[in-house]
Parts: sequence; structure tokens; C-alpha cells
Amino acid sequence: MTNKIKDILMWDESLFRNPEVFDLDYIPEVFKYRDNELEAISHNVKPLVKGDFPTNTIVLGPTGTGKTTSVKLLFKNINEISTNVIPVYINCQFHHREFSIMSQIFKGIFGYGPAETGKPLTILYEYTMGELQKKDKTLLVALDDVDYLFHAKVAENILYKILRAHETFPGVKTGIIGILTDNDFSFKVSEKIRTVFMPNEVYFKPYSETKIKDILRYRSEAGLFNGVMSEEVLDKISQLTFEKGDLRIGIRCIKEAAILAEIEGRRKILVDDIEKAIERISSFLHVENVFDCLSNTDKKVLKVIAENSSKLAKANDFYSVLNDNMSYELFRKSLVKLENLKIVDIQRAQSRGRGKQNLIHLRVPKEVILKSLNNNL
Ligand SMILES: Nc1ncnc2c1ncn2[C@@H]1O[C@H](COP(=O)(O)OP(=O)(O)OP(=O)(O)O)[C@@H](O)[C@H]1O
Ligand SMILES: [Mg+2]
Repeated sequence: MTNKIKDILMWDESLFRNPEVFDLDYIPEVFKYRDNELEAISHNVKPLVKGDFPTNTIVLGPTGTGKTTSVKLLFKNINEISTNVIPVYINCQFHHREFSIMSQIFKGIFGYGPAETGKPLTILYEYTMGELQKKDKTLLVALDDVDYLFHAKVAENILYKILRAHETFPGVKTGIIGILTDNDFSFKVSEKIRTVFMPNEVYFKPYSETKIKDILRYRSEAGLFNGVMSEEVLDKISQLTFEKGDLRIGIRCIKEAAILAEIEGRRKILVDDIEKAIERISSFLHVENVFDCLSNTDKKVLKVIAENSSKLAKANDFYSVLNDNMSYELFRKSLVKLENLKIVDIQRAQSRGRGKQNLIHLRVPKEVILKSLNNNL
């Protein structure tokens, strides 16, 4: 064994006081700068506590601005002060079928999921809203990443089913908080939502560099031992995070950089660790963000490209290796989708003829793709 490997294996002094502080679903103890937004949402939902109809809300803003965390914190507060409201948080990336959304609501109301007996949706709906009526409680549903419902074209049905429950179940009061990340598609989505109900919009502005630094400082203090993070390094992370425009990158970067320092047996993170960590993380986050949009076909195509990218470049060669019953047309469509998602580049052949072929280049390190594929297959 080399000395370096021995060092890695034997080093047992951790720089982490509390590693879960860097998990992305960790709810921070100190959550600043969103008081106004949280107050606005609270005013909208407040009538539900008294048993009245609320104002429905759409929470909109760029990625990593604390939208999901704010709504989760609000729900925690609601549970603490009221037994009258049942708040149900649903991530539409994972639940974008009507049945699975209604199952989540059922679970929120009953405390356990519906039996897997293949009951039709209408029965599930009746049970769910019927129980709400019986219990005489109000329902607040947060639909996070609500744009996924529009991709799956079930949005209107779901929104109507929740919001018009009182027409079939008199006395039932329900409200919705839709959460939406600002992107090319979000404008269209928010327009469509507006036609179903008239939501009050709460906008989450991006954080300034100073605020990012302050948030990252709290995170470092909670997660790392004293002295691991220096002011100079914190400045560097904050600057890079601000440039990339996503707080998650900064949080992950602190964790990765601390691991790099640990591996080298250092007690301090260096600026150099940050630079190494940030590139890796940006591509990781990008792949993770788009992964849910990939079909099994897309994943097969991507896997073949990632596994063979050091040997092959021509599209047809990747297709030959694929060794699957996939048609070329399907393969080509997947390539274009991967190009749109900025995972591959297609260098298109200028002219047709022997040897003139489209070339495929990965835009993300292949290790990142293979790791994500292994985690998700
Ligand atoms: N004001 C804040 N204080 C402390 N941590 C924060 C703050 N705002 C965001 N974060 C942290 O940043 C990360 C991203 O926040 P969150 O998931 O709430 O963003 P989002 O707006 O829902 O992003 P997306 O649109 O991509 O879903 C989380 O780890 C969260 O804890
Ligand atoms: Mg979110």
C-alpha cells in the first residue's frame, strides 16, 4: 500500500461536527431573510386555521432561494399551533400521477397509506375527502415542483379535485400552495394555474452575495469544527456560489471540500479544495436535476455513451454497442433530448457521405453520469 492510501484508511479525525447539516433536505435551525415571504404565505393560509377558505398561493423564484424550505418550515409551525389544519407536502417530481397524489393526501389525513388493492381513483378520492368531512378538518396541500404535473398533463384535474372538493363534500375546506422554480417553462405554468384558480403570488428573489456568505457561515459553524473554515475560504465559496446562482452548490461544496481536506489529513479547508470541489458539484447537481426527466430509453443511451466515451465518438458506433432492440429513430430522439438537457453535445456532420457522421461528446464527466445512473437504476 502506498502511504497515501494508508493515510486515507487510518485517518479517523473528522472535520465534521454534524455532517447532516450539509444534506440538502436538512431544515436549518437559523433561517433568515425570508420573513416577509413566510409572512405573506402565512396570511394566505391563516383562514384554514379558523375553518375558512384560504387564499391559494403560488410560490415562485429561482433555484436554491429557500422556497421548499420555507413551506416545510411553515408546515412545521402549523402542526405546532393547530390540529384543525392537515398540511400535506407533495413533491411532484416523485408524485405526478393523480392516483399517487391522492394517495399522499390520503396518507396525510389517515396517517397511513391506502391499501394496494387497485381501488379506482374515484373511490380513493371519496374515502379521502369523506374522511376530511367526517373529521371536520381543513386541508392544505403544497405541490412542490408543480410544473411536473403540467409535463404529465394532469395538473388541471388535480387542482380541480382538491379545490372543488366542497362541491361534492359540503363543508370541506381546502387550499393549495404551488411551488415553482423560475425557468423557461414557469411563465406558461403560472399562466395556466391562474386560469384554474387566482393565486396570490409570493416571489423569492435571489440572495445577494453578502446574504449567501452569511447563510454559508451559519451552515459551516453548525456542521464543521471550529477553525476548519477560514474567512478567506468562505469568501471564495460565497463568490463562486453567487456566480453559479444556486445556494445548494455552496452547501455541497463546503462538504466536498472538507472531505478533500480530511483525505489529505489537514485540519483546514484551502481555497484549492474549493476550486476542485465546485466543478465536480456543479456537474453533479446538473445531472441530478435533469435525471427525473430521463426515460429508461434515455438512460440506456446515456449509459452506453458514458461507458464508451473514451473509445468512441461517432453516433452510429454508440448505436452498434447498444445491443438493444431500440430503433435508430428512438436512439436519435434520445440523443437530441440529451443535447437539449445539456448533457451531451452533438457535433453535426457538415455533409453526408462515407465516414461523415455526427459525433457525440459528453458535457459532464462520465464518472458523474455513471454514478447517478447507478443510484437511479
Ligand atoms: N435563508 C436561508 N437560510 C439558510 N439556508 C437556506 C436559506 N435559503 C435556502 N437555504 C438552503 O439552500 C438549499 C436550497 O433551498 P430550497 O431547497 O428551499 O430551495 P428552492 O427555492 O426550493 O430551490 P428549487 O427551486 O431548486 O427547488 C437548502 O439546503 C436550504 O436549506
Ligand atoms: Mg424546491
